[in-house]
Amino acid sequence: MSQERITSLLTEKRSYLPPEHGKSAAWIGSQEEYESICQHANDDPEGFWGARAAQLLHWFRPWNKVLQSGSENFEYQWFVGGKLNAAYNCIDRHLINGRRNKAALIWQGENEMNVRCYTYQMLYTEVCRVAHALSSLRVRKGDRVALYMPMIPELVIAMLACARIGAIHTAIFSGYAEGGVLSRIQDSKAKVVITADAAMRAGKVKPLKANLDPILEKCPSVAHVVVVNRARMENVAMKRNRDVWWHDLIDDFTLDADFPCEPMSATDTLFLLHTSGSTGKPTGVMHSLGGYLTYAAHTTQWVFDMRDDDVYWCTADIGWITGHTYAVYGPLALGATTVMFEGVPTWPNPDRYWRIIEKFRVNIFYTAPTVVRSLMRLGVAWTERYDLSSLRILGSVGEPINPEAWTWFHKYIGREELPIVDTWWQTETGGAMIAALPYANKLKPGSATFPLPGIDATIIQQSTEEDGEQEQRGYLVIRKPWPGMMQGVFQNPQKYRSYFERFGIYESGDGARIDEEGYYWILGRIDDSINVSGHRLSTAEIETVLTAHPQVGEAAVVPMPHDLKGEAIYAYVTLHEDCPWSEELRTDLRNLVRRDIGPLASPEYIQFVENLPKTCSGKTLRRMLRKIAGSAYSDLGDTTSLASPAVLPAIIQGHQNLMAGHPEQYTDA
Ligand code: WTA
Repeated sequence: MSQERITSLLTEKRSYLPPEHGKSAAWIGSQEEYESICQHANDDPEGFWGARAAQLLHWFRPWNKVLQSGSENFEYQWFVGGKLNAAYNCIDRHLINGRRNKAALIWQGENEMNVRCYTYQMLYTEVCRVAHALSSLRVRKGDRVALYMPMIPELVIAMLACARIGAIHTAIFSGYAEGGVLSRIQDSKAKVVITADAAMRAGKVKPLKANLDPILEKCPSVAHVVVVNRARMENVAMKRNRDVWWHDLIDDFTLDADFPCEPMSATDTLFLLHTSGSTGKPTGVMHSLGGYLTYAAHTTQWVFDMRDDDVYWCTADIGWITGHTYAVYGPLALGATTVMFEGVPTWPNPDRYWRIIEKFRVNIFYTAPTVVRSLMRLGVAWTERYDLSSLRILGSVGEPINPEAWTWFHKYIGREELPIVDTWWQTETGGAMIAALPYANKLKPGSATFPLPGIDATIIQQSTEEDGEQEQRGYLVIRKPWPGMMQGVFQNPQKYRSYFERFGIYESGDGARIDEEGYYWILGRIDDSINVSGHRLSTAEIETVLTAHPQVGEAAVVPMPHDLKGEAIYAYVTLHEDCPWSEELRTDLRNLVRRDIGPLASPEYIQFVENLPKTCSGKTLRRMLRKIAGSAYSDLGDTTSLASPAVLPAIIQGHQNLMAGHPEQYTDA
């Protein structure tokens, strides 16, 4: 974990009390109240979660058992025997509880003039039509439907249509390229893929359907592709009997065609979402309907103190878990108004976010530290010209928020008075786990504060021998099951078990520290993941792509600190004998990663080395490589375990040259 982070949080001593104004109306309005709920949730977890599930969701049939624990395999089933439907909870019930004409979804297109707003009634009509349409393509309960779509309302409609049928959606971030899309469709064995002709990104048209076509050659499970006409691209190739335009398909269904919600078991799978794990293959995280939806609604209500008249905006792409839980399921289950933005914060000007906040009078704004850092750099002039006074609560997710970004966010967006709820969680946890409650907890910049009620987090100190070196680490673990926890890993029970095996309880893969007041400080990933701009990538996956190049011998990918992205990717690469390095090769390797995984995974630096540092048993000493990538040369630890210590000075020299902009001098010759 990063020395820089440890140093910065050791020096962080400021704290901020929750605002007085708003406390009395808040769901949880004081530290004492928070503590007493924690006590109750701890004493009677099943009573606590059962009460929340009953308060927050509509059940067609109540459950017999809140939690059923499997004996050996860490299998937990929530709300066993209960029946419900996510689309019913996110739409239908709001048609009869007074929210029928409330804005459910406000969509801002990339073009400023392009706005669409769906009331709950309108969402219902569209979702029913799409459910009929998917059903006409023989999508049935339990089938997988892959969603490779940009940030357009059709994505939300498609998710809810799947939920209505009981089909399992599996979203694939539209920024992923070939390899990332292929592995996800193949793993999920999707029957239908929904996509768009193209995505609009910073004024450019980025084709999606054309990307998909070669991939589908290798995906025999896919019977149909539904294509939304987003960018009005010409000459979109449509394969007969397989591909169909979204608008043509739904045109067959009348506007009053109700599609009855399938009564699903609480333990059925709502969706599948792949995340990067410690192996080269993405992990297909499964979330159960009853547990996940309860947890999504529960955390959205408490962490964002959601009220009925709030306009709420989570900026995350729906291709990631944050978009699932906090842009779609949590807010819609509560009958809230959720904002969705198609574009990027910086195009055509770096004021898009502030414009949207002013335009729709956003009250709750949830974003990522990387966004804050990038906007911070462009100066306050962009924020000052907007009226941000509607804001009430700010949120942060994806990576630790560094004190500098926190302070800027608090001062310029939060008027030095708004609470910033820093929310720590993961794809696997379904929703926020360690997070501030805005009107209850005193904040410390950079700390996600405390575990939420019912979340039994702790830290296990352990001395591990990694790469042949001893290191003391604090593993962040969760002792008790919670409703939002993943249900399993799709067709890979072994992988699911691996989260529990080391300690017999859920291991997050993050390191953390608890201070003397009980505040949690997340230190970053302990496993081989990299967190670039809040997106989790697997080092193994990138290494697999690099070593697939015919000239590459070995590759070791490590994180390096980066001002904007939090972490950036640093790759050490050895070449086969007689293969000289060149700038072209460097470009080729970058392109290979861009093509196979996506631009996000493209290495910031590629250093060609003669040899990687290895132990006598042949293990690459990644910890040393991480330190070198971060220029922490004096902190390499015990180098005696190196099989050949002479490789180190050469690698350090190469790194210095690369940083100084002289990559040609990389060798030790
Ligand atoms: C990191 C995103 C510090 C962490 C919701 C975690 C954070 C990984 C925070 C999960 C935070 C997320 N403070 N680190 N507030 N939020 N992380 O699965 O390393 O894309 O394990 O889920 O992001 O990433 P994932």
